[in-house]
Amino acid sequence: CQFEQSATQVTHQRRRDLLDRVCKLYSRKRHVLTPDDLKHLVVDDVHGLLYCYVPKVACTNWKRVLMVLTGQGKYRDPLKIPANEAHVSSNLKTLAEYSTSEINYRLRNYLKFMFVREPFERLVSAYRNKFTRQYNTAFHKRYGTKIIKQHRRDPSLEALEKGDDVKFEEFVYYLVDPHTQREEPFNEHWERVSSLCHPCVIHYDVIGKFGVDQSIKFPSSSKSTRTTDNLTAKFFHNISPFYQKKLYKLYRMDFLLFNYTMPSYLVIR
Ligand SMILES: *[C@@H]1O[C@H](CO)[C@@H](O)[C@H](O)[C@H]1NC(C)=O
Ligand SMILES: *[C@@H]1O[C@H](CO)[C@@H](O)[C@H](O)[C@H]1NC(C)=O
Repeated sequence: CQFEQSATQVTHQRRRDLLDRVCKLYSRKRHVLTPDDLKHLVVDDVHGLLYCYVPKVACTNWKRVLMVLTGQGKYRDPLKIPANEAHVSSNLKTLAEYSTSEINYRLRNYLKFMFVREPFERLVSAYRNKFTRQYNTAFHKRYGTKIIKQHRRDPSLEALEKGDDVKFEEFVYYLVDPHTQREEPFNEHWERVSSLCHPCVIHYDVIGKFGVDQSIKFPSSSKSTRTTDNLTAKFFHNISPFYQKKLYKLYRMDFLLFNYTMPSYLVIR
């Protein structure tokens, strides 16, 4: 009697196999996880789930779903949880908060999952969200002022002070500048998924793909503002081949690990 795997199981098995191969080929020697590496792993002890959250990959909605699952009656409808509350970290426990033996137990026994998205779509989405909206003053102050100071020629005093008109090109110069990461780790909104979730060390059972897995429906109401491939292409229009190449190199592991091909709009293919 033959066991027939469902198409979904086959898809996920293939994704895991590819990831393993890429890890073997490209990732440096196995590193031991520190608590800092586990900050993005959300724990659901009731259902035995570990979820690596990746900002800009429908993560607010997934956190809402997990809050309903773990809230034990506090929340019943994911859509009724305000976005700001879904982002309050104290509402969800991360694996970093557990002892070593508790961590190991959960890594061995829980269902581990994550959701990924085409790396440059995610990047443009982060740029649009953090730098082109008037209300994101915290990001303008924290990152915008720094980006303009270091990557704009003759900036105005106002731009230096407010940091609210960062161009996509300037954001790219900031990302590929080696000084940036020497100073501090990337913000989680543009940090690579491979660095947030450590998929070469943690063996995820399920890797969902935003925009590909049709069966995954997010309780989303913001379809119109979604960053699509075509929109992403527009943003890359202004980026020179030199910087396109540098940026691709920076995000290369995320392309390879999760089977995204180099975008056709790049001029470096
Ligand atoms: C990688 O993606 C291509 C299409 O872009 C697909 O045909 C192929 O099956 C995928 N490979 C894996 C291992 O998922
Ligand atoms: C995206 O661009 C391609 C070619 O540049 C075009 O054929 C396609 O219709 C566009 N899609 C959308 C949704 O605008």
